Amino acid sequence: METKILSTKEIKKAAELIKNGEVVAFPTETVYGLGANALNPEAVKKIFKAKGRPSDNPLIVHISNLNQLKKIAFVNKKAKNLIKNLWPGPLTIILKKKKIVPKEVTANLESVAVRMPKNKIALKLIELSGVPIAAPSANISGKPSGTCFEDVLEDFNGKISAIIKSKHCDFGIESSVVDLTEKNPVLLRPGALSFEKLKKFLPNLVLHKGKTIAAKSPGMKYKHYSPKAKIILFEGLAKNKIREYKRKLEKSEKKVKIIKPANSKEFSKKMFMLFRKCDKKNIDYILIPSIEEKGIGLAIMNRIRKASTKIIKK
Ligand code: TXA
Ligand code: MG
Repeated sequence: METKILSTKEIKKAAELIKNGEVVAFPTETVYGLGANALNPEAVKKIFKAKGRPSDNPLIVHISNLNQLKKIAFVNKKAKNLIKNLWPGPLTIILKKKKIVPKEVTANLESVAVRMPKNKIALKLIELSGVPIAAPSANISGKPSGTCFEDVLEDFNGKISAIIKSKHCDFGIESSVVDLTEKNPVLLRPGALSFEKLKKFLPNLVLHKGKTIAAKSPGMKYKHYSPKAKIILFEGLAKNKIREYKRKLEKSEKKVKIIKPANSKEFSKKMFMLFRKCDKKNIDYILIPSIEEKGIGLAIMNRIRKASTKIIKK
């Protein structure tokens, strides 16, 4: 298949492809998405095929207005308050789904994940398509999320109908996923919108930890965000210990890179790109010291942990 590269002035062409049941990669403020008509099961299946994504991992449905939301989900009070304050933005809400949403999107769950992105190109694409767009992050399943055009092209050239070529994604890290289907709200995936900010609107919000997460959010059990290089996370260790570890690996002919994260949007913006760059340089090991799990640091640490093959603690 030929993958068309569309400019941000050609969103109409991209929308036509979505209407025709094709898959188009598009920018959002978090990461690039791999989108298709959420109400067309055959189109949705193409997303899973292109990504190599297990079919039991549900997709987020992206909308551009609240009428679309009413059509696909039952909106409760808590959701209304969040939406009023935090949409459009990097927040995904899990709600009870309506029948119109195909089981392919939700992996047979009775709930649906919904997000109204802030990125203007994403919003325009949804608007012109006239349908909600189901979209996971644009990366081959298991790899670091695609956060710039080049990385999306690398994964999907020849596999999807088109890619909208835009700037590097603003946050570079996925949306925060909040489950509002139970009595108490749960943050299933920390993301670009901080836990602290969410707490302001959901005082009872808790961060989901532990094993039951796999049942609640099926995607959590899979390998995630991993470059070919092995990532080793050092939690609470002194810098000289990490350098020592590096020297040891280098003695056995391994190519090693230390990535120092910062608790900032500048770092989250480039993190997945840095992981992918290491693969281009044939790095064997990436060593990363931990940062404080506050603000965007919570999401950064969550992604690094999931990408790690080993965690070394004090
Ligand atoms: O920022 C983002 O959220 C990006 C952009 C493209 O919007 N999308 C994204 O999608 O990160 P994806 O598929 O890579 O991650 C979606 C996560 C997965 O962990 C999935 O299991 C979870 O959301 N999820 C989707 N639907 C769910 C549901 N009904 N219940 C619980 N978890 C759900
Ligand atoms: Mg993903």
